[in-house]
Amino acid sequence: MENGTPLPHHRPQWKSHIGFLLAAIGSAVGLGNIWRFPYLCYKNGGGAFLIPYGVALLVVGIPLMILEIGLGHKMRGSAPASFASVSRKWEWLGWWQVIFVMFGIVLYYSVVVSWCVNFFFYSFDLRWAPDPNAFFFQEYLMVSEGPFALGDLRTPMIGALLAVWGVSWLIVFKGVEKGLERANKVFMPLLLILTVAIVAWSARLPGAKEGVLSFYLRPDFSRLGDIGVWMDAFGQIFFTLSIGFGIMIAYSSYLPRKSEIVRDSITITLFNAAFSFLAGIGVFSVLGYMARTTGKPFEAVVDQSIGLAFVAYPKAISMLPGFEKLFGAIFFGILVIAGLSSAISILEAFASAIIDKFHYPRKTVVSILSGLGFLGSMIFATRAGIHLLDIADHFITQYGLVVGAIFECVLVGWILKAVKLRGHLNHSCRWKLPAVWDFSVKIVAPGILGALLLSSLTKELADPYGGYSWTAIILVGRDWLLYTLFAAVLVASHSWKTEPRSRMRRKNEDE
Ligand code: PHE
Repeated sequence: MENGTPLPHHRPQWKSHIGFLLAAIGSAVGLGNIWRFPYLCYKNGGGAFLIPYGVALLVVGIPLMILEIGLGHKMRGSAPASFASVSRKWEWLGWWQVIFVMFGIVLYYSVVVSWCVNFFFYSFDLRWAPDPNAFFFQEYLMVSEGPFALGDLRTPMIGALLAVWGVSWLIVFKGVEKGLERANKVFMPLLLILTVAIVAWSARLPGAKEGVLSFYLRPDFSRLGDIGVWMDAFGQIFFTLSIGFGIMIAYSSYLPRKSEIVRDSITITLFNAAFSFLAGIGVFSVLGYMARTTGKPFEAVVDQSIGLAFVAYPKAISMLPGFEKLFGAIFFGILVIAGLSSAISILEAFASAIIDKFHYPRKTVVSILSGLGFLGSMIFATRAGIHLLDIADHFITQYGLVVGAIFECVLVGWILKAVKLRGHLNHSCRWKLPAVWDFSVKIVAPGILGALLLSSLTKELADPYGGYSWTAIILVGRDWLLYTLFAAVLVASHSWKTEPRSRMRRKNEDE
């Protein structure tokens, strides 16, 4: 064992530093960067959105990334094990995060990845032409009238979903080094090459420059007065960085004793932001091209929501001057790779939580979880899927992730004491963490998040989200968070096979 002290059970380790870095980037870079970021930007004031996004990145993104990677490294355990090592009373928080991500976010996330799988194949005959809007909503999703009109399962999606869960199962089943590390070593370079190729291709289309400069980046500063824009930016930062998911904690628990936590946290965060920015350039170049070709105003060709990647973009692809099938296949291929490398990260984070607590064998845990995940995703593969997805996504990302993060700040900032974790990091890394980090974890981050939360709650009560009925919002949005919380408290009350603190890295061990 790497520390010379016998551990209660074997803990896997990344074989190489780059393996960890690629896996963490693989978790962060996902549909959030390519599908969510560009439409959020467009919806929230174009280039002006980069201001709240940048602020969110600095005040919560980087400090919390350091907090999660640092905590997982120090406690050498999954989220529930790490929180329990700080205080047993807080173990529920770790369970809540991994449960609402695994049995919430990933259930619909994997369905969106399965749409991408289907669209990858549809690219070969441009099946969405001539009317991508009717194709996506009526023919493919067959959207029902409301969240409770489930209708039957959409068969093309089920096959793709089976493939998504099957591949995720296979990778995580093989373990940290042979599964996650190896897969990401293939996925990430491939993702980067394909993305750079497609962005370069898009940027040379006629009208591309206008799409990027006049619509993606042209700032509309008046939007900054809207609290919703700020809430979107903060919610997006958590989602896109996989913070508050319990993932980074699990991933960093497999790091060796001497690790560059601060440097890695900054690298992951900045790489992720740069990737989003690049993806935005690609998306808006193509939309600019379409606006020029059709002669329609830009606003008429762009969608501010889920439709952006599945309606406006396919439409633009069919209009390309050549190789449009290849372009389509690369675009949806990129989404599939980015989505898969994120999906496997939560499967790992959840599995490691169960293994830490109950010592069940990895293979059994991963197999059962993948099966349950597949079955659970079915709800989003019904004809009401897109309504349910919209509500669940809004409540889990804007409330679940944010509330979880506030608690994390309180737990690490005040109960463990930020200065103590900083001491650990400064002891293990060459890049030293300045004392202002303590202040941001204890006061700035939770303060801003708390204030945003209150104001957006007030807005929520005045005006039900997305025009859905209160019954739908309560049953799907609020209750999803409440039931997962209940499950978390239940699991946390169960006793540990071995004390969570026993795996912790202590100072003298680090020497
Ligand atoms: N960071 C991911 C993204 O931007 C979000 C995610 C991570 C979703 C892990 C599911 C599982 O797409």
